[in-house]
Amino acid sequence: MCGIVGILGTAEVAPHIVDALALLEYRGYDSAGIATLDGGKIDRRRAEGKLRNLRNSLAEAPLSGRSGIGHTRWATHGAPTKGNAHPHVTPRVAVVHNGIIENYRELGDEVTGAGIVLQSETDTEIIAHLITLELDAGKTPQAAVAATLKRLRGAFALAILFTGHDDLLIGARHGPPLAVGHGDGEMYLGSDAIALAPLTSSITYLEDGDLAVLTRQGAEIYDAGGKPVQRPAQQSVASAFRVDKGNYHHFMIKEIFEQPEVIGHTLAHYSDLANDRIAMPEMPVDFATLERLTICACGTAYIAGLVAKYWFEKVARLPVDIDIASEFRYREVPLAAQGFALFISQSGETADTLAALNYCKGAGQTIGALVNVTESSIARGADIVLPIYAGPEIGVASTKAFTCQLAALAALVIFAAKARGTIDEAEERRLVRSLAEVPRHMLDAFRQEEKIKTIAQGLTKVRDILFLGRGTSFPLALEGALKLKELSYLHAEGYAAGELKHGPIALIDQTVPVIFLAPDDDLYEKTVSNMAEVAARGGRVILISQNDRIAEWQGRIESSIELPDADPFVMPIVAAVSVQLLAYHTAVFMGTDVDQPRNLAKSVTVE
Ligand code: F6R
Repeated sequence: MCGIVGILGTAEVAPHIVDALALLEYRGYDSAGIATLDGGKIDRRRAEGKLRNLRNSLAEAPLSGRSGIGHTRWATHGAPTKGNAHPHVTPRVAVVHNGIIENYRELGDEVTGAGIVLQSETDTEIIAHLITLELDAGKTPQAAVAATLKRLRGAFALAILFTGHDDLLIGARHGPPLAVGHGDGEMYLGSDAIALAPLTSSITYLEDGDLAVLTRQGAEIYDAGGKPVQRPAQQSVASAFRVDKGNYHHFMIKEIFEQPEVIGHTLAHYSDLANDRIAMPEMPVDFATLERLTICACGTAYIAGLVAKYWFEKVARLPVDIDIASEFRYREVPLAAQGFALFISQSGETADTLAALNYCKGAGQTIGALVNVTESSIARGADIVLPIYAGPEIGVASTKAFTCQLAALAALVIFAAKARGTIDEAEERRLVRSLAEVPRHMLDAFRQEEKIKTIAQGLTKVRDILFLGRGTSFPLALEGALKLKELSYLHAEGYAAGELKHGPIALIDQTVPVIFLAPDDDLYEKTVSNMAEVAARGGRVILISQNDRIAEWQGRIESSIELPDADPFVMPIVAAVSVQLLAYHTAVFMGTDVDQPRNLAKSVTVE
């Protein structure tokens, strides 16, 4: 989840490393640091917190040198302090690391047993010392790294500089991604192609277990068995274009308002909107005969999958097994032969989702990847990649990626239903038309913003909030609660409305707002019965529904948010706007760091 960059350059590298780190800050922002080699000697600057703190410290004390490595951290071992910030150095090496070393305790004992006093609480510093001990024993840098890698258990991507070796940078990958960039007399290492995009578009992706030895002339790559291997360079389409906030205060609100447009792009790729037909790419499985679909993802992407489960089962009559990837990967799930497993991920780098994908691959499943980043590890591991065309999502809390995932999944559902004969051509046209109307309905949903602000202001005075819904509004209740808690740090829970009586109703009193997602669909009456139970107990009800329905409840509810008259099939995509705006404005009133909430990272590359 941390971001790594390394440059063997032809001019001063520190400014370029800082620019690359700015593109990697989405991976973590607990601290940042840079080490360079100048005259063969390692020097470094580190700073706690955001990258701007490192920029300030570099402005006061610049770093010179044509070789360097940099890091932006999401803390695992050790608090997010300057002392724990990477790079970690010894007199002979500087190391940056993404991942977790699981056997760091025993390795740490060995290092301290050799008389070394550790300067930090990190597992990374131990790697630096282990390599140094191997160098002290007379090994070459490459042999010292290879010997150390053999002893590490866990997940890591590393970049290492060596004192006295101005033309050498070693990278290694076991789990988290690492890419080699090829320049003109320069070579680069980076966590992803986006970070390297300002420097080069010629990229070699390292495979799991690879060790890469870079000089300014090129890279030699060795596989897990130490054999030299050729890994082809490819032209990356990752954009160096640093998206800015325009007139918006935060990326998140900009991305919320981008949704009608990017959903339009996504739908254009999966449907023939002129003829109201679905137009999926050729699929590697036959949906007509498919017996079950497995879906795996984390966080908001998992919630998108949960909505899809309702859709696939009801519309296409296709049973879906869905699980959170971190649970799925260790559950030893028996999978049917010739099954299809679909992995949903904005970043395409989420470690648990990738591990679940590899498990399914090993079990002979055909793999689908619904991703925003098409060059990601999850995309590269799939038999079919279904891109979502959301464009770069910078706000850490997922918004436009979620609704684009839903739009692409809805198209896949219609495709599957058609193949399975559970809908006819007329119904296909009707459903595609309802999808095509989503951008317009979203524009209507935005008109509730002022009202949502007033409700959000009220939420800042409470400690606990419940979101309730049935059917596809249940996953949306989960999403509303997830967005609210991660952005505003208020405690929020999402529940299936019918589950209320089985426990959560005990929470109801005048201090707990209960937000009901009750669009006018076939479950509306059921949901509002649960709402009546809350109102009867003095609960504070906020109703999200269509205008007519809200009118029926005037006097019994505290406030409401109007939904447009969208078809119930697409309502979860449209109603997502209401819960996103509510979470956003609550966070703004609470004064939290909306785009980079505390403790989070955009790309979760550790389990
Ligand atoms: C919440 C959020 C996260 C991500 C999750 C999966 O707003 O953004 O829950 O959805 O970390 O990330 P991806 O989709 O990159 O696999």
